[in-house]
Amino acid sequence: MYPLNYIEPVFRPPSEWKSLILQVTNGCSWNKCTFCDMYKDEQKRFKPKAIEEIEAELKYLVQNNLPVTRVFLADGDAVSLSMKRLKEIMQLINKYFPNLQRVSSYCLPRNLLNKSISDLRELQEMGLKIFYVGCESGNTELLSLIEKGETFDSSLEALKKIKEAGIKSSVMILNGLGGPKYSEQHALASAELMNQAQPEYLSTLVPEFPFGSERFEKGFNGNWREMTRQELFQEMHLLLENLNLNKTIFRSDHASNHLVLKGILGRDKFRIINEIDLAIQLVS
Ligand SMILES: C[S@@+](CC[C@H](N)C(=O)[O-])C[C@H]1O[C@@H](n2cnc3c(N)ncnc32)[C@H](O)[C@@H]1O
Ligand code: SF4
Repeated sequence: MYPLNYIEPVFRPPSEWKSLILQVTNGCSWNKCTFCDMYKDEQKRFKPKAIEEIEAELKYLVQNNLPVTRVFLADGDAVSLSMKRLKEIMQLINKYFPNLQRVSSYCLPRNLLNKSISDLRELQEMGLKIFYVGCESGNTELLSLIEKGETFDSSLEALKKIKEAGIKSSVMILNGLGGPKYSEQHALASAELMNQAQPEYLSTLVPEFPFGSERFEKGFNGNWREMTRQELFQEMHLLLENLNLNKTIFRSDHASNHLVLKGILGRDKFRIINEIDLAIQLVS
């Protein structure tokens, strides 16, 4: 047995590179989004990890003096676990690493349906400080075509709940998700969702299909094609133009992006739009 008994593959957000990846579930409880192949392998069928196993891993890390200051709860949506289990996990993390800076996790809006704001506040007080929320789009029609199982309203409700509990949100939006046909409505609705939610972090990624896009394209019934770089930049322009954020750290620097953009929105909005304009001119 390895010290950390991972069931591979294991994913984490790029900004969690300094964190201990603590696998508290295997796979994703939803696992239906048509663009996502991350947890499709047979061995990745969703299952919570036994609490004894989680404790054994934490104990091992302490006994071997491994420096842990941040923890990311894997896999795909650890917040799908019950409050009881999440609290047990947070208690164990605090027991073994009392000087922790923060704990974070992926979180789907539906993971919060049965969790109250006071539940979430309790988790926040125990150290759970950031949720990475894959909204992907604010457009309900597009969310249905990709089988996200969420809507504009369900996404907004969850983001508001997270904020009210004092937890930070880091939202992911997929640039080019709807192809040219849905590009405008995708950009406008995603901007509107972000404006109403005011997340602390926002990042954009471009869908990639290393195992083929057949499953994804099937949902669009012939109405989807990959966008050109120019079309992707134009969609980003429309998104940025319509974002009215007070203080959100914006990153478009995942390897899937053709153009690296970074800044604080609203402060850097026009500088970023100018960079997109320049990129549009360069590829035309
Ligand atoms: C590992 S998933 C877990 C997130 C969490 N289950 C959720 O949906 O909120 C993290 C993010 O990776 C991105 N992602 C997944 N599949 C992708 C793909 N094929 N291309 C680009 N980004 C992808 C999506 O933005 C997704 O929200
Ligand atoms: S995007 Fe998130 S919710 Fe959707 S299948 Fe992938 S891990 Fe699960």
